[in-house]
Amino acid sequence: KNIAVFASGSGSNFQAIIDEVKNGELQANLKLLVCDKPNAFCIERAENENIPYFTFSAKDYAGKDEYENEILKKLKENKIEFIVLAGYMRLIGSVLLKEFEGRIVNIHPSLLPAFPGKDAIGQALNANVEKSGVTIHFVDEGMDTGPIIAQQEVDIDSAETRESLQEKIHAIEHQLYPAVLKKLFSKKAQLNS
Ligand code: GRF
Repeated sequence: KNIAVFASGSGSNFQAIIDEVKNGELQANLKLLVCDKPNAFCIERAENENIPYFTFSAKDYAGKDEYENEILKKLKENKIEFIVLAGYMRLIGSVLLKEFEGRIVNIHPSLLPAFPGKDAIGQALNANVEKSGVTIHFVDEGMDTGPIIAQQEVDIDSAETRESLQEKIHAIEHQLYPAVLKKLFSKKAQLNS
């Protein structure tokens, strides 16, 4: 599968995917990084790995359709078959959904449908819940809605801080995302789709 990763920030999940592709565990061609924050660290990761990237600033475009059309052009040039959102802080719009619905996945740091949207970790801490977790799901037009593919729980301790919870969640994400992608891209999954 030719895949594009979309990210806006540090890209530690992007890196986890890169590493699993490099060690042969995940069979995918990492063709492109799409990033809406030209100074984000994920770009440095792409440069280090010689992965082509496309960056844009939403404010340079009249609206979502305009920048998504530009993204779509890059996806087509690179023959992208599957989109992996990894900390991409924008809603996917109709231009990309029309071409890729069912072939876009996202990772979110909560047990959806609990705590969708921004700062899911802070939301969980404020709500004083004893468990949170990670969800991987197909992307539809909603904010962190769409069919759930996998979830993994994490316990929230009484002494939990934002930093410690984030660390636990990242540790789960970095093994769960590549593993789920591996299953999705396996021959069996393709035959059934
Ligand atoms: C992850 O926690 C992911 O669940 C959320 O954004 C964060 C991205 O982290 N959607 P990173 O950029 O991959 O380090």
